[in-house]
Amino acid sequence: MPRIVRPTAYGTPDVLAVTETPIQQAAADGVVVEVRAAGVNPIDWKLYSGAFHDVDDDHKDAAGIAASMPSIGLECAGVVTEVGADVTGVRVGDEVVVYPVTAAYADYVTAPATSIIGKPAGLGWAEAGSLILTGTTAVHALHAAGVGEGDTVLVHGGSGGVGLMAVQLAAAQGATVIATAAERNHALLRDLGAFPVAYGPGLADRVRAVAPQGVTAAVDFAGTDEALDVSLELVADPARISSITGGPRRAETGIKRLGYGPGEDAGAELRDAARGDLVERAGSGSLRVIVDSIFPLAEASKAHEIGIAGHAPGKLVLIP
Ligand SMILES: NC(=O)c1ccc[n+]([C@@H]2O[C@H](COP(=O)([O-])OP(=O)(O)OC[C@H]3O[C@@H](n4cnc5c(N)ncnc54)[C@H](OP(=O)(O)O)[C@@H]3O)[C@@H](O)[C@H]2O)c1
Repeated sequence: MPRIVRPTAYGTPDVLAVTETPIQQAAADGVVVEVRAAGVNPIDWKLYSGAFHDVDDDHKDAAGIAASMPSIGLECAGVVTEVGADVTGVRVGDEVVVYPVTAAYADYVTAPATSIIGKPAGLGWAEAGSLILTGTTAVHALHAAGVGEGDTVLVHGGSGGVGLMAVQLAAAQGATVIATAAERNHALLRDLGAFPVAYGPGLADRVRAVAPQGVTAAVDFAGTDEALDVSLELVADPARISSITGGPRRAETGIKRLGYGPGEDAGAELRDAARGDLVERAGSGSLRVIVDSIFPLAEASKAHEIGIAGHAPGKLVLIP
């Protein structure tokens, strides 16, 4: 029987369990994909942390798991095993990147056909399965901050999943990129075309030293007070600062808040439209997907513990 990783309750990664599940059939406008790699993202553990949802344990399903528990795993790559009656241009055996999807920590996923993009032959499974969520978020953040040729952009959290994408995309657009990261990740960021600086006390001065010409835009993937304050100190126009994470203080500052929370811009169309270009760039090697570690499905909780610690340089990936 195919396996799926699900949270059995709200809490910490030890609530994750591998359970068995029947293969679902493709909807008329959808496909079934055998998963070869599923990207791990912070949203996965946030979904079952209890932060977003009220706990409701009243109605348990056959596996003894509350029906209200969220599915996790929002992106993957794999091989099409069934094609819905109304779907054209897709065949069984096609290798595809799948996003958005739910419940991708599994042997098989069902997805609407609009969620799949052909996987370039030269792109590895782990890279293909962990490229799109961070890539589309980076595209949105850079767009919202108006980053383009001639800009000097400060990237907070440059060594994280979203940051590594943004650093490369901003550099490819002709911007000068300054990226914050722990010291051990500076060599990687230099390799990707950024000027790395350490976060922590004195950050604004370190950025000024690297960018005497001034900073014209900032994108925040760290969500700390420091990232917000330094961005506001260095960038003249708050509308040229975008942030995908952080506290409610951001709402009073005039910066662009992106995502799915109240008052945030989800950028759904922009993100959807960016997927094909990201896959093409990754396939051609002009955009590197940095994979930090790969785990079997059964070790999803270990992957989440490392992710929650927040310092993995690159993507964590599950391989069924
Ligand atoms: N709104 C949206 O649409 C959206 C989409 C995707 C992600 N997100 C959110 O954005 C955040 C980043 O996601 P991600 O996938 O890039 O996470 P990630 O891969 O875990 O990266 C975390 C980054 O934060 C840096 N960091 C850790 N502690 C820091 C500190 N004290 N000061 C500054 N930087 C620090 C890390 O740097 P070092 O490793 O070098 O220490 C690393 O670059 C998460 O909160 C995620 O939930 C939001």
